[in-house]
Amino acid sequence: MMEAINKFLLCETPQAWIESALQHPEMLLIDHANCEKKAANTALNLIHRYVNDFELLNKMSRLAREELRHFEQVIAIMEQRGIAYTQETASRYAAELRKPVRTFEPAKLIDTLIVGAVIEARSCERFAKLAPHLDEQLQKFYLSLLKSEARHFEDYLGLAKKAAGDDDISTQILLFLERDKTLVTAEDSAFRFHSGVVLN
Ligand SMILES: [Fe+2]
Ligand SMILES: [Fe+2]
Repeated sequence: MMEAINKFLLCETPQAWIESALQHPEMLLIDHANCEKKAANTALNLIHRYVNDFELLNKMSRLAREELRHFEQVIAIMEQRGIAYTQETASRYAAELRKPVRTFEPAKLIDTLIVGAVIEARSCERFAKLAPHLDEQLQKFYLSLLKSEARHFEDYLGLAKKAAGDDDISTQILLFLERDKTLVTAEDSAFRFHSGVVLN
């Protein structure tokens, strides 16, 4: 399962990000909660915009439910630990990753689905890499997320290929993977779940 993810991504999460995550345990959970919420929202937006594909509707509906379930699990842990859910700025990652999404159809749909695949793959890779460093409860929780996030990656990639029909999208996939690599390895200003390397 992790093999496909690691083969897809162009680089591993830098060790320095793991260290930042361990220094910011509250922000890790707050931003993780935000990521689950946004992942559900992205899937719901696709359901509203593309009603003519039953496979897409089905997969995105299930995905949205699973992300909201993950959201409930994160906020339950936050509540148990007495972590206040404060409003925090988003990391630059998703906005920067989405910048080259084309504005005309079906390219817009294809690119949005590719971005979904990249985000799911990176999230999955981070959960796996971070898990061994966390306390027992979080370790168990993060490892339990791997399976669904890996399937979300496969679903997004499969839907992107389907939307492209006979067109080869490997160059377009590479474009977004290169952006992901740049964003996660570059220096970043604040620690977030998808941030780059934070120096402080
Ligand atoms: Fe999730
Ligand atoms: Fe996901």
